Amino acid sequence: MTMADTARSALPPATAAAIALDDTYAARNYSPLPIVATSARGAWITDIEGRRYLDCLAAYSAVNFGHHNDEIIATAHRQLDAVTLISRAFHSDRLGPFCAALARLCGKDMVLPMNSGAEAVESGLKVARKWGADVKGVPEGMANIIVADNNFHGRTISIVSFSSDKTARGGFGPFTPGFSSVPFGDADAVAAAIDDHTVAVLVEPIQGEAGIIVPPDDYLPRLRQLCTQNNVLLIADEIQSGLARTGHTFACDHWGVVPDIYLLGKALGGGVVPLSAVVADRDVLGVLNPGEHGSTFGGNPLATAIGTTVVEILERGEFQSRSAELGVHLHARLRALIGHGVIAVRGMGLWAGVDIDARLGSGKQISLALAARGVLVKDTHGSTLRFAPPLVITAEEIDWAVDQFAGVLAEAGS
Ligand SMILES: Cc1ncc(COP(=O)(O)O)c(C=O)c1O
Repeated sequence: MTMADTARSALPPATAAAIALDDTYAARNYSPLPIVATSARGAWITDIEGRRYLDCLAAYSAVNFGHHNDEIIATAHRQLDAVTLISRAFHSDRLGPFCAALARLCGKDMVLPMNSGAEAVESGLKVARKWGADVKGVPEGMANIIVADNNFHGRTISIVSFSSDKTARGGFGPFTPGFSSVPFGDADAVAAAIDDHTVAVLVEPIQGEAGIIVPPDDYLPRLRQLCTQNNVLLIADEIQSGLARTGHTFACDHWGVVPDIYLLGKALGGGVVPLSAVVADRDVLGVLNPGEHGSTFGGNPLATAIGTTVVEILERGEFQSRSAELGVHLHARLRALIGHGVIAVRGMGLWAGVDIDARLGSGKQISLALAARGVLVKDTHGSTLRFAPPLVITAEEIDWAVDQFAGVLAEAGS
């Protein structure tokens, strides 16, 4: 019996069988908790054993508007019966309305629709380099893009080329040149790194995978100023932080900063389809000509119909308000646990990174204990847990989840 077989033998039979199939046939690039989901509504996931769990991860913020959001699902059903995919070889009646709505939401001119978040990042980097060559006059092959240490922007070769995470990079070289990384939150370091060949500064306004790291208040405003002064594009990766997660439409809004390029994904697809986008003004996105970039599925009718409904939901502002109001409650409840197994709480809105006293166990062990009590969270970086529930969660559900967390910490400490 392997160790995996031994661990599975302690699980209920249906769960064990489903996991055995995954373990045998699915590439092992994740280490999931032993929960096998079969359905979900609102903030709740039901597993193959019929057990219900309060989802405090929301698919890394892709399910901001709740599982099976009625409005989004109704759009999806309507569009499934009309047309789902034609490629960009032809026009569809869904692309234009989506791009117009999203451009309006972002206060920008144009949208480049893609699919995954990583694709949006790759596309943003290409656009910045092309802008550098065509508009700024940076010699071909010389463009430099400044990024932040401990960033997370996805998993492609170019993106892991500027990651500081050894696991993300190990064995995947050779890497793409043209990036320099400086400490997150340090605007002076960005100023020192900018030179004549710098075309862009790429940042997450709040670093998500790094543990929900909120920068100093002057950081983004100073980056905005530096980029404007030096004719450099400010690219905000709002793929996880954006679309109501932090209590505003974009995390950048907290500091009144408007980037040159927004990178969006995750919740843009309503938790139904992959849909991402690069959003910018015409003088930036207009550098792309036919044949220079594309994707067979990018901007497909099903995704863009859903994306249009997502933008309509965001225009109403209800989820931004919920996240802001309930976020105050979540953070207050979590901060009350400091000194009782919790070391620090960071974040904004319904997005909290919680550092746990490592003596109580690893983040994974605490996540497993929470799952046993019916709360799903995900650990990041050893002993940090992330609470990022769907924004439909109620104050009572937050209280219940934090009570379970307090119970797990008390048990682990006793
Ligand atoms: C800030 C940020 N950018 C990009 C990505 C990559 O998105 P995807 O997993 O859809 O490729 C993520 C995913 O977690 C992210 O958090």
